[in-house]
Amino acid sequence: MNIIEKLEWRYGVKKYDPTKKLTEEQLNKLIAATRLSASAYGLQPYKILVIENPAVREKLRAASYNQPQVTDASHLIVFARIADLQESHVDAYMQNIAATRNIDQSMLNDFAGILKGAVNNLDANAAAVWSSKQAYIALGTLLTAAAAEGIDAGGMEGFNAAQYDEILGLKEKGLATVVIAPVGFRAVDDHVQHAKKVRKPLEEFVEMI
Ligand SMILES: Cc1cc2nc3c(=O)[nH]c(=O)nc-3n(C[C@H](O)[C@H](O)[C@H](O)COP(=O)(O)O)c2cc1C
Repeated sequence: MNIIEKLEWRYGVKKYDPTKKLTEEQLNKLIAATRLSASAYGLQPYKILVIENPAVREKLRAASYNQPQVTDASHLIVFARIADLQESHVDAYMQNIAATRNIDQSMLNDFAGILKGAVNNLDANAAAVWSSKQAYIALGTLLTAAAAEGIDAGGMEGFNAAQYDEILGLKEKGLATVVIAPVGFRAVDDHVQHAKKVRKPLEEFVEMI
């Protein structure tokens, strides 16, 4: 299958087969792909939580309009943004660049200044929106990577973020839930897989200038 055929193959699974689990290798590959996602300035103002624990997922399902994907997929991935973006997050990033590229951190002073200026320019709401956007890019990377590997994955917004934060203890970790993604394998009787994909006509979707 080429990439278009793989993306045609993927769909928003409504019913996962609870008996089918990702291998450790498959899960690690999806995590690695998501980690390689692009983000503005490379700051990655979010992290992911990979949830397998059935008891936790029962609670999360109750906070997700009882959507069965939350408990029945192999794993549930929660994208959580940094709740309160600070200059310290920029400093940690600069340390990471310096260590990874084996350079003196002072060489990054200009970049650090630009990034701190950008972060300080955002009020709490704008920072939440901006960090969430970065997390959504990672969601897109995950969905595409999963399709490429023949693994089912879907984005989900139908949940109560405040309840997720509570159940997962995210406030204490300085995080806030943005979006979630079940990963696993479709049930053979999930009728949605036979529905034709609906997308805007190409000429409406794209404008060449
Ligand atoms: C950010 C996002 C949130 C979504 N939330 C839900 C959800 O809560 N429940 C659900 O069943 N599907 C959800 N979906 C699936 C979409 O309905 C689905 O992707 C869309 O209809 C396009 O169909 P396809 O993915 O099957 O091609 C969500 C998709 C995205 C990208």
